[in-house]
Amino acid sequence: MKYGYFDDQAREYVIARPDTPLPWINYLGCEDYFGLISNTAGGYSFFRDARLRRITRYRYNNVPFDVGGRYIYIRDNTLTPGPSPIGRGRGEGFWSPSWQPTQCSLEDYTCRHGLGYTTIGSTYAGIRAETRYFVPLGQNLEIWQLTITNQRLTPADLSIFSSIEFCLWDGLDDQTNFQRNFSIGQVEIEDEVIYHKSEYRERRNHFAYFACSEPLAGYDTQRDTFLGPYRGWDRPAAVERGQSFNSEAHGWAVMGSHHVKIVLAAGESREIRFVLGYHENPQEDKFAPPNSQTINKHTVKPIIAKYLNKSNTDAAFAGLRKYWDSLLSAYQVQSPDEHTNRMVNIWNAYQCMATFNMSRSASFYESGIGRGLGFRDSNQDLLGFVQMVPERARQRMLELAATMLPSGGAYHQYQPLTKRGNNDVGSNFNDDPHWMIIAVSAYIKETGDWDVLNERVPYDNAPGSETSLYEHLERAIQYTLDRLGPHGLPLIGRADWNDCLNLNCFSDTPGQSFQTTTNKEGNVAESVFIAGLFVHACREMAKVATRYQRLGDAGQRNQIANRFTLLADQMTQTIYAHGWDGEWFVRAYDDFGHKVGSKDCEEGQIFIEPQGYCVIAGIGLENGYAQKALDSVNKHLATRHGILLQQPAFSQYYLYLGEISSYPPGYKENASIFCHNNPWVMAAETIVGNGDRALDYYLRINPSAREEISDLHRTEPYVYSQMIAGRDAPTHGEAKNSWLTGTAAWNYVAITQYILGIRPTFDGLMVAPVIPLRWKGFKATRKLQGVTYHIEVIRQGPGNTVSLSIDGQPIAGNVVPRPTGGEKSVRLTAVLC
Ligand code: BGC
Ligand code: NOJ
Repeated sequence: MKYGYFDDQAREYVIARPDTPLPWINYLGCEDYFGLISNTAGGYSFFRDARLRRITRYRYNNVPFDVGGRYIYIRDNTLTPGPSPIGRGRGEGFWSPSWQPTQCSLEDYTCRHGLGYTTIGSTYAGIRAETRYFVPLGQNLEIWQLTITNQRLTPADLSIFSSIEFCLWDGLDDQTNFQRNFSIGQVEIEDEVIYHKSEYRERRNHFAYFACSEPLAGYDTQRDTFLGPYRGWDRPAAVERGQSFNSEAHGWAVMGSHHVKIVLAAGESREIRFVLGYHENPQEDKFAPPNSQTINKHTVKPIIAKYLNKSNTDAAFAGLRKYWDSLLSAYQVQSPDEHTNRMVNIWNAYQCMATFNMSRSASFYESGIGRGLGFRDSNQDLLGFVQMVPERARQRMLELAATMLPSGGAYHQYQPLTKRGNNDVGSNFNDDPHWMIIAVSAYIKETGDWDVLNERVPYDNAPGSETSLYEHLERAIQYTLDRLGPHGLPLIGRADWNDCLNLNCFSDTPGQSFQTTTNKEGNVAESVFIAGLFVHACREMAKVATRYQRLGDAGQRNQIANRFTLLADQMTQTIYAHGWDGEWFVRAYDDFGHKVGSKDCEEGQIFIEPQGYCVIAGIGLENGYAQKALDSVNKHLATRHGILLQQPAFSQYYLYLGEISSYPPGYKENASIFCHNNPWVMAAETIVGNGDRALDYYLRINPSAREEISDLHRTEPYVYSQMIAGRDAPTHGEAKNSWLTGTAAWNYVAITQYILGIRPTFDGLMVAPVIPLRWKGFKATRKLQGVTYHIEVIRQGPGNTVSLSIDGQPIAGNVVPRPTGGEKSVRLTAVLC
């Protein structure tokens, strides 16, 4: 069953009924000011850091799931609301055009989630109301553009109420420290603008404001006055009685609500704009007059005035649309499959930008108060957005590199505001540093910016410790060489990609961290996955070294490159000797030196990670192991909802395996379909030449292809979720944790670079599609380093052999070198046979 449909032309997903299985959300903002917004206008906003600069309040784990947000109420002043308190009031005389929180029976409810904006509208009692929410580029504010149309034959006398609840800035403190919080709330109301200034009197120089384009009939800033005692957002006393209380908050819960009265003639339409924003004043100029406690508003007033104005607002919206058009134009495809097209052209790329912006901090499954930016997560996210915002990718990479340690290791996480490594979590996730190599190499392939390797970057952000970025990468390789275990495989440390495979933490105490309570020496447990990743990283380093001029002349460069190649070859042999189980790659060795992910195990015999990643690294191609491993994946792990992380699921908690066995079978790392590494197998299938299997796997987890089963899948059909419940779970096929997951980047890489096969390399653009037999071909455009490649792929035979021609002139190989004559546009034809 579906709850809406894709409008590919408009680049929107249209939700046609409000009671989706879970809140289906979108993000507003793409630079510093961000908001989350659900299909019923739930959600919150923050400036840069969802924990430390939370602008509006949101309660996770609420009932219903999603209450609190950017709510508008419309009251028909000619209808009398039913007598309160019990059982009446809602829907009688007032309603919310976004359905929540009043939940009236609306006509024509639609929520259009677009790129950086959301429009929610409906009709009730002959009044059409539609609100477009967005954040203008370059601004720290959001605009709500509400259009109200009287579709009746008679005039309508209406009251409009806006509402938001302010957060006392620190998202965690706000939910816990009530003895203080109930006394600190402060506001100012001036020129009909509501200013939230809690803590401004002391150490903050920022405040929030909420403005409205119309003259006000009243306002409220004290939540409990607006709502009335024992009432929720569904039945505010102010709305019910049809008049704000003009409450001024002193402590308790600070909110913002405007009350606007309008009379609309039959057929008349009116637009009302609300602006909610964040503003910082210079520390020395916080107050005006200077010796007062009144916010200096000189700097903010022009901004408010500008965005309350309709034509400025419309222009800002047009600018936002253009911005997204331009980002998405980096890669566009027309293939025979609509799910591929809309994910590649719109939604998957869009989700990659969300993971860039948010990392894993703020979604409806990540509270925004928990984690910093993950080192491995951010490096992998880069693979999905580098083609859209290369400059910002560069900056992110340098920030990440500065949280590496002199050992070549890295802090597992760092804080977005301070950019410092997070001491609570520390280091020793032994896969981490290699992702830096994968990211830097992807960045150089995309941009040709070899200079980035010369950048001086510190370790642990310590001034004086700077070396070149290149040296950081060398140290990343050395980190593993310094940490090899009994079989010559990399030691796993706290965990590798699989955060829950905790082989050095025998945790028997509730509440302990599985990752950071390391109580084993750590000199025994090894990871075959890291071995595969290490081989991949060494092969990339070899390619970098041969081309990086600063390393010396060609002979010297080759010598350095040969060392990396040798390391890759040696590790490959180690994997063949100790990491091969006969039918598939072993996953790891535990602290006792026993295999994990082997036919010798009772549970957890085969894991997905080393099968996909070893093949990506080129391991097992020369001896048939790659094909065998992938056939084993197909046989043991593939389900119709995607590929399971491992099998058989762990039926009980194993002290020596850690968090992975803490989950009930079929969920999360314990044998769910962990969507992040499904694409490793898709990519691997293309490497062994099996385009049919690759696309088949791709479509099993492609959210658009699962739209028809939305009642089972439950999360948004336009973005990937972290996991889909596995075969062992009672809810097999149900997705969880949408939006912020490495799934976005890796699926984007698998489809665009491996299946469609259009991949930047150090020497130019590779065109090497490995598509299903039934596909007759496809067309694509790819922008790379200022050149637009118009690519047509034509299938003439059943194979994957590519014959490339430029403007009809055949060229050798499958890589198109950068045009030397300054051409901005190149026509490529790739014939497959
Ligand atoms: C989750 C993992 C996550 C880890 C670290 C675990 O509970 O299952 O997916 O990576 O926590 O935050
Ligand atoms: C989510 C984490 O963010 C990511 O770093 C990790 O690789 C996966 N979980 C798998 O455990």
